Amino acid sequence: MTEVVQERAASKRVGALAALWPFIRPYGRMVGLAGVALVLTAAVSLILPMAVRRVVDGFGTNDLSLLDKYFGASLGVAALLAFGTGVRYYFVTRLGERVVADIRKALFDRVMSMSPAYFEKILTGEVLSRITTDTTLILSVIGSSVSVALRNVLMLLGGLVLLALTSAKLTAMVLLVVPAIIVPIVVLGRRLRVLSRENQDWIANSSGKASEALGAVQTVQSFTHETITKGEFAAVTEKSFDSAITRIGTRSLMTIIVIFLVFAGVVCVLWMGARDVRDGAMTAGELVQFLIYAVMVAGAVGALSEIWGELQRAAGATERLVEMLQADDPVADPAHPVALPRPVRGEISFDNVSFNYPARPETAALDQMSLVVAPGETVALVGPSGAGKSTILQLLMRFYDPQSGAIRLDGVDLRAMDRQDFRSVMAMVPQDPVIFATSARENIRFGRPDATDPEVEAAAEAAAAHDFIAALPQGYDSYLGERGVMLSGGQKQRIAIARAILRNAKVLLLDEATSALDAESEQAVQRAVDRLAKGRTVLVVAHRLATVKRADRIVVLDQGQIVAIGTHDALVAEGGLYARLARLQFTDGH
Ligand SMILES: Nc1ncnc2c1ncn2[C@@H]1O[C@H](COP(=O)(O)OP(=O)(O)OP(=O)(O)O)[C@@H](O)[C@H]1O
Ligand SMILES: [Mg+2]
Repeated sequence: MTEVVQERAASKRVGALAALWPFIRPYGRMVGLAGVALVLTAAVSLILPMAVRRVVDGFGTNDLSLLDKYFGASLGVAALLAFGTGVRYYFVTRLGERVVADIRKALFDRVMSMSPAYFEKILTGEVLSRITTDTTLILSVIGSSVSVALRNVLMLLGGLVLLALTSAKLTAMVLLVVPAIIVPIVVLGRRLRVLSRENQDWIANSSGKASEALGAVQTVQSFTHETITKGEFAAVTEKSFDSAITRIGTRSLMTIIVIFLVFAGVVCVLWMGARDVRDGAMTAGELVQFLIYAVMVAGAVGALSEIWGELQRAAGATERLVEMLQADDPVADPAHPVALPRPVRGEISFDNVSFNYPARPETAALDQMSLVVAPGETVALVGPSGAGKSTILQLLMRFYDPQSGAIRLDGVDLRAMDRQDFRSVMAMVPQDPVIFATSARENIRFGRPDATDPEVEAAAEAAAAHDFIAALPQGYDSYLGERGVMLSGGQKQRIAIARAILRNAKVLLLDEATSALDAESEQAVQRAVDRLAKGRTVLVVAHRLATVKRADRIVVLDQGQIVAIGTHDALVAEGGLYARLARLQFTDGH
């Protein structure tokens, strides 16, 4: 998990984190409380060394009660520190979890309303990474890094001021010594990072080579290629060893230099401090206090340099999240939607519609297509694969907008209405029906969430699905498995039809799957569709002769254009594409 987190790209612009503010603002009180606890603990930490000084210097005096008092006070300070730290942890972590939960919900809400064009440009895996991995990065920043960074900034600044107050001379000395220590550490550290990345690349390279060769070991052997393959692997492995040696050498050198410099610095300062103590310019307690502050400041610098990388990674994550939250959708609801007139009649019209999928700007999926479907009419769409049949249904759902022309329902342009408004009077049975990982009952109820159990069962009955569902081990409560792996193609189809029946919509869009059902269920489904078609407008993409023959009109499509309209007999008599399709393509279910 952590490795995945580290793989996400970082951003140089740590300022991008500011975009998180709108999510944090509602929890101002929690931020305030966390801030108070933060300042309190930092202040207490900074006071602690002074208490230590009193204690150390107290050894010199003979006043025992004073010593007791100082120890007592130290205990109080410790309690305060413990309490403040606990409170800060509680509020900061809680804030982080709260904000990340909000961000996750906002992202999911946004993505769920995006039209398919968006998903053509982004991989589902990337969307998931953003909702999970990227938000986890942000959780670590809000829920800890930011507060750790703030605390260390306070410690750094406060520590420096108190160092100066403790001993201006020694502080000046420290400030002189520190760059002498830090510069070589930073330079060598950077070199080391480059080297270990190189080393890592070589290791990846060598295991890549190995897995390729192992996966093809029989090919390697049958071509007696072993010597060369072994040689290649050996070469990559040696390269990886060589780069490891360079890294190890640099690391050793760095260790020598750093340890010596740090201790030399400490010894130097201690030596000057010891002289001051002997000369009476400083007490032993003050020297101890000074050393503790120095350690605190050094610790703060170290912590800050580590957190910087984390902030950059979280900034990268924030940029991706903001991009997703603000993504433009080419299909959007109008600002002032027109309501679909009620009662709904179900008249569909395509008026000179030309459309190409965003991913294929140069080929037209529909080319100046015009078609009017009267209320209550059943129209079969037929044509060769890729003719644009499913596309017509997609446009009717307004998953895409046509480049020119208009699509209307009951005379109202789809683009003028809220998508939820007209989609609520349509029911779609897609070409490859979707089954959710839940029970048969809930899968059907998806069509109308407020339907009662008897209604669900009636819909299943009408879709010729009741018998096979009842025969499942737990009947309607049987779990159907992820993507319906426990159902046959025909069973999935009938569940999808039951769902559409339950929806009780005025307009029915059926994308008949090519995979033929067996003759019996074919007839059952056909009867279900027939019953369903009564009083509704039905657009059905037909692959079965039975469906085609029952339609009021048949629309023959080819390459995005309507090439003929008519009844089965008329079209067969005409010859042409339809007659050919009827002969070769339609499965007649027998
Ligand atoms: N999302 C998409 N992006 C780009 N092109 C697409 C997309 N979906 C479909 N197409 C293309 O649009 C054309 C029409 O496709 P459509 O799905 O409407 O065909 P169809 O008539 O339903 O075919 P079939 O009978 O095989 O289902 C095809 O050339 C197809 O390759
Ligand atoms: Mg299709």
